[in-house]
Amino acid sequence: MIEEVFNHYYAKSYNLLYKDKDYQQEVDFIHAIYERFSLKHPQQQRPLQLLSLGCGSGNHDLLLSSQYGYSIVGVDRSQAMIEMAKARGGEQPSVEFHCCDIKAMDFKKSFDGVHSLFHVVNYFNTNEDLKKFFQKVADHLSLGGIGIFDTWYGPAVLTERPETRVKKVSDSEWQLWRQATPRLRHQENIVEVHYDLLMKNQKTNELHEIKEMHSMRYLFHPEILEFLAGCGLELIHYGEFLSDKQLTANTWNAYYVCKKV
Ligand SMILES: C[S@@+](CC[C@H](N)C(=O)[O-])C[C@H]1O[C@@H](n2cnc3c(N)ncnc32)[C@H](O)[C@@H]1O
Repeated sequence: MIEEVFNHYYAKSYNLLYKDKDYQQEVDFIHAIYERFSLKHPQQQRPLQLLSLGCGSGNHDLLLSSQYGYSIVGVDRSQAMIEMAKARGGEQPSVEFHCCDIKAMDFKKSFDGVHSLFHVVNYFNTNEDLKKFFQKVADHLSLGGIGIFDTWYGPAVLTERPETRVKKVSDSEWQLWRQATPRLRHQENIVEVHYDLLMKNQKTNELHEIKEMHSMRYLFHPEILEFLAGCGLELIHYGEFLSDKQLTANTWNAYYVCKKV
């Protein structure tokens, strides 16, 4: 069930599973997008205020704040992920993390930018939920504010087809083995990713076996345009995440930039 993803042990293994993900490069990329598209306020003394949807353990936001001076509110529905983010961000007063579902959040304020990174939008599986996601982005942006999200790009998912993948990683404490087995539900544009995770503590030999199913809805360009337009967001840029190349039928990871108009 979707409500049960990123549970305690899966979340605990998250930073190790993605230890090779280049968050620094991603943060530089996101900062460059905010620099390029955000409204400039020459008289503005405060750093840009950002909202991060599906912030996870805070990997992007802690760097964005410490290196580029943004003030950030991060939101994630996984208690375990938020606890990790809070533990790591304790000394950064310009970042705060809240545990809540994006669909239910209401900060009663608007932000200069809203970002949602590492396929968070793909966890919204139905048209109804996707409308809510984009409405929440719009509701929390100031006029002229910028929204940034990355997504599994539908044409590439259908061209390349998801495959079973195995990942093994370790640090001084844990040894992890994870198999991801996909099941394509093409009528709903969904890939069910069945994760089998085995965690072994290197010192105590303690073992944990975790199963989670992540249901990912891949998106197509025309429907993204519809969702954005439906809540007053204008598409201003898109391309391949990180390279900024044009999208092709083999671009798995696309990113979109929109503006509240
Ligand atoms: C792949 S992780 C990405 C985490 C983080 N953005 C990163 O790049 O490391 C996806 C995150 O989205 C969160 N998420 C998915 N659906 C959500 C929802 N409806 N409300 C809040 N968070 C959600 C999950 O709990 C998880 O932490």
